[in-house]
Amino acid sequence: MNFELTEEQLAVRDAARDFAESELLPTIIERDNKQQFGREEIKKMGELGFMGMMVDPKYNGGGMDSISYVLAMEEISKIDASCSVAMSVNNSLVCWGLETYGSEDQKQKYLTDLASGKKLGAFCLSEPEAGSDATSQRTTAEDKGDHYLVNGTKNWITNGSSADVYIVITQTYPEKGHKGINALIIEKGLDGFVVGKKEDKMGIRGSDTHSLMFTDVKVPKENRIGEDGFGFKFAMSTLNGGRIGIASQALGLASGAFERALNYSTERKAFGKSINQHQGIQFKLSEMATKIEAARNLIFKAAFLKENGKDYAQAGAMAKLFASQTAMEVTTEAVQIHGGYGFVKEYHVERMMRDAKITQIYEGTSEIQKIVIFRGLQG
Ligand code: CAA
Repeated sequence: MNFELTEEQLAVRDAARDFAESELLPTIIERDNKQQFGREEIKKMGELGFMGMMVDPKYNGGGMDSISYVLAMEEISKIDASCSVAMSVNNSLVCWGLETYGSEDQKQKYLTDLASGKKLGAFCLSEPEAGSDATSQRTTAEDKGDHYLVNGTKNWITNGSSADVYIVITQTYPEKGHKGINALIIEKGLDGFVVGKKEDKMGIRGSDTHSLMFTDVKVPKENRIGEDGFGFKFAMSTLNGGRIGIASQALGLASGAFERALNYSTERKAFGKSINQHQGIQFKLSEMATKIEAARNLIFKAAFLKENGKDYAQAGAMAKLFASQTAMEVTTEAVQIHGGYGFVKEYHVERMMRDAKITQIYEGTSEIQKIVIFRGLQG
């Protein structure tokens, strides 16, 4: 087993780290306070190749491997989990879904601009009454011959108002259950497609989360991804990879908060010595480091399986479950180690603790990950 990263992977990691420290760090507190989407930052991430990292270069992607992607996700998330969720959705859900299951025309028309970062994508599954129970889609796509007529509401959509291209999961044949679901590519600006209210969130406040309303939106048949009724399978297999991206986001939050806590504990003196010379703080830091290392290894394993064409659904769910728990625990301890400073915005760890919570909720709650893991145990 080889635990060493290649020169190329290290270069990607370093480039992501440099970018995050020079371009994201200076403005993250202000964007979090103002709930401001990092439009310029995301544009630069596209120019640097971070928005379509694994896509084939023939569709303007970076042609990189899954390990490079998780390394970059961790580095961006260490500084800015709001920008990294936009990156994760665009890479893992939108670009991967289109490249894997889209038609050649769809790839030429949509993927090329999404992979280059010229356009931004959104993945629209959740509804007011369908989050975990993804089969219960209420958004309908009525078959009208050469087009679908789409009606319904989507909730909590990442990149909700900023995206240009939306992959929308819809119900065409309710009587067929999950086999009646279709995934449609819907462009912004179509008649009847309205971006609804922006969510005022606890964390990832610089990400753009909205509800979306569709009223008699005409979507051409050629915008359906895959065969008629393939939408649920499309969503499930896309989310399998999405969970590796969110696990990496959680890892970045944990490792970023840990680095801050370690530095602070070296500088901060109490009772005549640095606080990390007290065993109580050493115990905390050692536990945090161990959990981070375990989360990173689960993520690498899932990314490795994906890269090598093996089944990675269970490994991705394990990685997300453990990394998101780790993010919550480590960021909370990082606040504790910082004491009073941890509770104020200037020291960043309070934001990281708020941001960490969503990693246990989106792209499947921790409970959903356990369902996926258990199904894997049954073979
Ligand atoms: N991978 C591939 N295929 C899968 C799958 C997976 N992980 N899970 C199920 N399937 C397939 C099954 O094999 C089955 O196929 P067949 O009909 O051929 O047998 C089909 O899908 C139906 O499967 P189930 O009967 O098992 O489906 P279910 O209704 O019991 O649901 C579930 C399974 C795992 C609970 C699923 O509903 C699920 O994952 N829910 C969570 C959805 C989710 O993650 N939502 C988050 C929203 S997206 C988001 O957050 C994006 C963002 O903005 C950041």
